[in-house]
Amino acid sequence: MERILTGLQPTGVITLANYIGSIKQMIEYQDKYESFIFVADLHSITIPQDKDTLSNRIRDLVALYLACGIDPKKNTIFVQSENVYHTNMSWLLECNTYYGELSRMHQFKEKSKKQESFTAGLLTYPVLMAADILLYDVKYVPVGIDQKQHVELARDIAIRFNKKYGDTFRVPEPLISESGTKILDLCNPTKKMSKSSDNPKGVIKLLDNINDVRKKIMGATTDSETVVKYDMENKPGISNLINIYVSLTGKTIKEVESEFEGCNYGTFKTKVADTVCEFLEGIQKKYNEIIKSDIIDKVLDNGKEITTNLASKKYEDAKKKMGFYR
Ligand code: TRP
Repeated sequence: MERILTGLQPTGVITLANYIGSIKQMIEYQDKYESFIFVADLHSITIPQDKDTLSNRIRDLVALYLACGIDPKKNTIFVQSENVYHTNMSWLLECNTYYGELSRMHQFKEKSKKQESFTAGLLTYPVLMAADILLYDVKYVPVGIDQKQHVELARDIAIRFNKKYGDTFRVPEPLISESGTKILDLCNPTKKMSKSSDNPKGVIKLLDNINDVRKKIMGATTDSETVVKYDMENKPGISNLINIYVSLTGKTIKEVESEFEGCNYGTFKTKVADTVCEFLEGIQKKYNEIIKSDIIDKVLDNGKEITTNLASKKYEDAKKKMGFYR
């Protein structure tokens, strides 16, 4: 089985769009690949974080992923800051990366231009990400399109290092999912459903109150027709609800269109709301059990042990190749 690795920032909320667009995919990958998943807590401090909520956010994230169906027996799950080799390796790689490369990254340009001043970490962030990846000889890195450039940089760094010091790192490839459906904001179905949206009515979070979720779906923006038909261009609101329904039931778009032939939007929305609420209730129930058990600590201790072992070997090898030995 080929190994894959992905990192998730503990930003506090996970939305239905995250579930449908990426977590579902990871659940499929767990049978196909040897999969490493880690909480990128060191990445999250490139912008200021509240120190009193950071550790809860890490636990919440792990609990939610487990509740969604990420199986700790099939995945190695760990916390980036608990494995010192990530930062150690990052320094070795930083000294093999150019300022020009980092200052050209889209995300750096985007995030730095919004602020008057920013930390050096915002600039060097992709090198830490390269270290995360290169420590484990991974074949693929499943990421969203926004992170593709960072994975490409990791490739460039690996190729450069191998050429300069001898074969050390496996050169990874980004794995951008084509099939993950993009879920749109319920109030404004021309933009993505995003946790940073200013209107909470357009966004469903996995831990939202179930009654609120129902209200949000019933209040979703639609069009002035009455036909439940998939047409992203002219009927983005209805099409978005169809996408949500399809993703949670496994039905096809065609099947959904015929299921609701002759029905009004109220009937359709009620059915979508029932489906989403039932799904979220299941996740919330599991989440509440997991968060108060010792499962999280067991899973993370195990992940720490496995990955520290692997990473220390790779780090020592890279260090020696660069000339650090007695
Ligand atoms: N930068 C990624 C994000 O913001 C998170 C991340 C950190 C990551 N290290 C990684 C993803 C390594 C994949 C592989 O989403």
